[in-house]
Amino acid sequence: MMQLLRNRVLITGANGLLGQQLLKAFRDGYEVHALGLQPQPRLPEGNFLYHQGDIAERPFLRSLVQEIVPKFIINAAAFTDVDGSETQREACWRVNVTGVENLVYAAQKVQARLVHVSTDYVFDGKAGPYREEDRPNPLGFYARSKLAGENTLRNSNADYAIARTMVLYGTGYEIRPNFVTWLIKQLRRNKPVRIVDDQFGNPTLASELATALRVLAESGRPGVYHLSGSEVIDRYHFAVKIAEVFNLDADLIQAVKTSEFKQAAPRPLRSGFVITKATGELNLSMSDVAGGLQKFKNEFFN
Ligand SMILES: NC(=O)c1ccc[n+]([C@@H]2O[C@H](COP(=O)([O-])OP(=O)(O)OC[C@H]3O[C@@H](n4cnc5c(N)ncnc54)[C@H](OP(=O)(O)O)[C@@H]3O)[C@@H](O)[C@H]2O)c1
Repeated sequence: MMQLLRNRVLITGANGLLGQQLLKAFRDGYEVHALGLQPQPRLPEGNFLYHQGDIAERPFLRSLVQEIVPKFIINAAAFTDVDGSETQREACWRVNVTGVENLVYAAQKVQARLVHVSTDYVFDGKAGPYREEDRPNPLGFYARSKLAGENTLRNSNADYAIARTMVLYGTGYEIRPNFVTWLIKQLRRNKPVRIVDDQFGNPTLASELATALRVLAESGRPGVYHLSGSEVIDRYHFAVKIAEVFNLDADLIQAVKTSEFKQAAPRPLRSGFVITKATGELNLSMSDVAGGLQKFKNEFFN
């Protein structure tokens, strides 16, 4: 009975790159509740109710969820500073594990379905592209925390789905630069850039992922789904495609190796996803690199 009455969704991490797109993806047909750390929402327009708060605060989260009684909770909140996680371990674990434990607990109290966003970083990048059933082997602390977050769901009786994604890009208000927006900015200023050609993955347009997450939520299907763009590409060739689509000078882009950079956290090199489970079971069509960039171009100039 409770399920029939409510058409509410709670979106956590609502001020982030993915969160802002989720607010738009659920606009039609839902009463949208947004949860973020900031006092005010970053997305200025849109029909949603904003709540300020921290998913790691269990009593707060529980009472918020009991007040809203959402049908779905979409967790796009995370500690996403991959290199910073190596030194800020407690802060990272607090959001990516304790926060997820709290969401599981709160979701179960009201029988909400929880859709949690995870990452390809749970894999070591030795043998991608990966399928859902492949064995994780996280390399850094962020990656370990995200796998622990997944395991919290797996070890629960909650109604849940895990959507792993990667190389997210898109537009948003006051969001951190992502690879695509950063590269466009550099090339527009005629700045030479060094881009690795030995890191492979599927670039994923955040707005497209948000729509796919709504489909996954509504499907009621349990378990893990790899949700990303359809094409595996290395970063250097991705950068060249970005330059082409935005009419920028690809000669400014120099191919280098990951070993030339000093990064605190190791990166999975040969990553990438096989997404046929998601596209087949959920009847989704995810863009390839060129298609995603064309869609992004329309969002970028509008
Ligand atoms: N970006 C990628 O390439 C990528 C790749 C694979 C997977 N993912 C996953 O995709 C999801 C969304 O990532 P994103 O790129 O949209 O990240 P993002 O832009 O960094 O957004 C994450 C949001 O979570 C919020 N947040 C952090 N701690 C919180 C807490 N304790 N309580 C409530 N909110 C909190 C942050 O708030 P503030 O803005 O106030 O800090 C931020 O708005 C994450 O689960 C991430 O692990 C991302």
